[in-house]
Amino acid sequence: MYLNLLFIGDIFGKIGRNCVEKILPSIKKEYNINFIIANSENSTHGNGCSYSNYKTFMTLGLNCLTSGNHFLGHKDVYEHPELFDNQLRPLNFPKNYPLVGSKVYNFNNYKIRITNMIGNTFMQPCMDNPFETFNEFLTTVKNTHDFHLVDYHAEATGEKRAFAEMFSNDVDAIIGTHTHVQTNDDAILNNRTFFITDVGYTGAVDSILGADKKAMILRSAYNMRSKISHPETGLCNFCAVYLQYDFDKNAITKFEKISRKIEV
Ligand SMILES: [Fe+2]
Ligand SMILES: [Fe+2]
Repeated sequence: MYLNLLFIGDIFGKIGRNCVEKILPSIKKEYNINFIIANSENSTHGNGCSYSNYKTFMTLGLNCLTSGNHFLGHKDVYEHPELFDNQLRPLNFPKNYPLVGSKVYNFNNYKIRITNMIGNTFMQPCMDNPFETFNEFLTTVKNTHDFHLVDYHAEATGEKRAFAEMFSNDVDAIIGTHTHVQTNDDAILNNRTFFITDVGYTGAVDSILGADKKAMILRSAYNMRSKISHPETGLCNFCAVYLQYDFDKNAITKFEKISRKIEV
């Protein structure tokens, strides 16, 4: 039995959502996809994920959404957390945050666990040490799943690799998100675990990481915090990773990073 999994990098705004809608049927066909995960932290105007956008993703056939530092960017997740069954937030966020950081899905009598973590270095404070938290978490979920994937949402490449090396005998895939730049280091670590430092983002090409260029230049050059918009049409990146997992061999048998550009 094969799991053909697609992980879509941070979907940024309307153009990113429309891009997913447009390209997903052909990608599903091409890779025979039967399970889809996406990072939704930038889905609604770059900031969080509204219930309306969450519903759209569910309608498109996405199975699980992960998040990151923009998790609380839209009020719907803390006003109506009960509506977001398939949305995760980083496990090492404060315990009183809404939603959960890990979830198990049934897949043809196999159990797929998805866990969302957030990194330490150059990130906002208020989260528990991700290494310690995850280590402790693993002791509580032994023998509860057949496949375990982690979205490690972090800035520093070294920290992401360190997390991957520390846990490469414990989980099957560790996929980095947050920097919005797809890295060229996709590999199997220690004969077990798929790892990529960052999967990249799904949003406007003519932008800075998905956001309006002028606003981002003002922010970077002069620390001027103007409202950030983003291009809603035009050429769009679709960044993702495809993984094939063979439950009989307990191994990842294929992997490929995907980077396409389509007009939206
Ligand atoms: Fe982020
Ligand atoms: Fe992001």
